[in-house]
Amino acid sequence: MTIIITGVSSGIGHALTSHYLAQGHQVVGIGRRNTISHPDFTFFEKDLSETTDFSFLTAIVSASNELILINNAGVIGRIERISEQVQSDIIPTIQVNSIAPMLLCQCVLQHFPDTRPLTIVNISSGAGKRPIPGWASYCASKAALDLFSQTIYLEEKEKKRTLRVYSVAPGVVDTPMQEQIRRADPESFSAHASFLTLKEKNELTSVEKVVEKLVALLSKPYDGNVIYSLKE
Ligand SMILES: NC(=O)c1ccc[n+]([C@@H]2O[C@H](COP(=O)([O-])OP(=O)(O)OC[C@H]3O[C@@H](n4cnc5c(N)ncnc54)[C@H](OP(=O)(O)O)[C@@H]3O)[C@@H](O)[C@H]2O)c1
Repeated sequence: MTIIITGVSSGIGHALTSHYLAQGHQVVGIGRRNTISHPDFTFFEKDLSETTDFSFLTAIVSASNELILINNAGVIGRIERISEQVQSDIIPTIQVNSIAPMLLCQCVLQHFPDTRPLTIVNISSGAGKRPIPGWASYCASKAALDLFSQTIYLEEKEKKRTLRVYSVAPGVVDTPMQEQIRRADPESFSAHASFLTLKEKNELTSVEKVVEKLVALLSKPYDGNVIYSLKE
């Protein structure tokens, strides 16, 4: 099995990569940085805030017998009200969190043979289901990912392709993204205190737990549900 994972340098993506390599799978990582060295690991150094051409994946995708695409890379973006931001604060968040995953989904749907088993996992967020002041671009980018995931699932079902599509909210996870959230200015981010409290009370989920829950979800028979929360 081949697993393509974006954002493998830290957090959830790093833990997922380590897990799949330990299971003996071929893993293809995409991101700006890499710390993993393994004979079954191939890394493509790409900045997803700029990359729109994913043709470097075409040969790998079309040659795979079974494929999982995990669109994991994500950025919280600048934590401030939109009225306080400039244009260049908004665009990279949408590019990394929404546009790059959409283009990667398109790449695998176009090049992976439709008779072979395909799974797409888009790492979404609870923030795509409710508004959080200071995170407008992030919330919008994850909401877009949810509806995009649901729509491509239906499109492929119409074509009779057998595939699984998941848009998964992992919960509040102890990664560098949460460190950035705790460093935000409380004046521009009214939920700041609640994120400090979660850390103080040791209520963040570990990346290992997220991997365990995601792997368990993917091992269940697929029922056509696209939106999942690992908190449940
Ligand atoms: N942590 C949470 O509580 C939480 C909650 C809900 C959803 N999520 C989602 O979970 C996913 C993983 O986040 P995480 O918590 O594991 O955070 P993280 O440790 O900050 O990891 C983010 C990953 O995305 C990559 N990335 C960021 N900007 C990139 C760019 N321009 N081009 C390529 N790769 C880029 C980073 O790699 P490089 O910097 O090396 O490029 C890094 O590997 C994200 O989609 C996030 O939105 C997290």
